[in-house]
Amino acid sequence: MIKGVIFDLDGVITDTAKFHYIAWNNLASKMGIELTEEFNEKLKGIPRIESLKLILEYGNAIHIYSEEEMHEMADIKNEEYKKLLKNLDKKDILPGIEDFINKLKEKNIKIGLASASKNAPMILEKLGLGKKIDYIADPDAVKNGKPAPDIFIEATRGINLNIDDVIGIEDADAGVEAMRSCNMRSIGINVDADLRLESTRELSLDIIAILDNK
Ligand code: BG6
Ligand code: MG
Repeated sequence: MIKGVIFDLDGVITDTAKFHYIAWNNLASKMGIELTEEFNEKLKGIPRIESLKLILEYGNAIHIYSEEEMHEMADIKNEEYKKLLKNLDKKDILPGIEDFINKLKEKNIKIGLASASKNAPMILEKLGLGKKIDYIADPDAVKNGKPAPDIFIEATRGINLNIDDVIGIEDADAGVEAMRSCNMRSIGINVDADLRLESTRELSLDIIAILDNK
């Protein structure tokens, strides 16, 4: 029986990918690097500093900057990203998510968050979901970011369950790979996983039951 659900945040609970893209694009264009939406797909689920390194590699500029300069650049991006989130609220919760979370709570199914985002607690508060999540795994507390499984393992530990008791929901290849490498059952939103859904609208207790019986 499934006793817990581990959510990714960006792309599953709310669509912040577009704001990450705007903020990275503005930073990159100052360095003469033009990002494409296709390249942006590769950044989904990837921690902040690693994302910057991928962008610099993409623009053949990785050798130009020191680690310290890269951290300053990542901070500049994050400040802009936070400004773009200024008006984020309940209306930005992806379709079906709040209802699904409420149904999980009614069934006493625990909810964990496994997001690479250090902004996750603030974003959940803005969305009015802060109190509904039982445990938010801190990306700074784990050694390796996605596609390593560490954050999913930490989120599961935080809700006092074992990997076999939970399923995870992701929208990014890096996140599905993370779940696969710790044998967590997975639902993919528009991405291949143990079960692939086209939209968050399709999430339900019945869908979870399908995975439970697999
Ligand atoms: C993930 C996003 O959820 O969080 C990535 O998909 C992002 O695009 C990562 O880089 C880190 O987020 P933040 O908010 O700490 O910069
Ligand atoms: Mg995501």
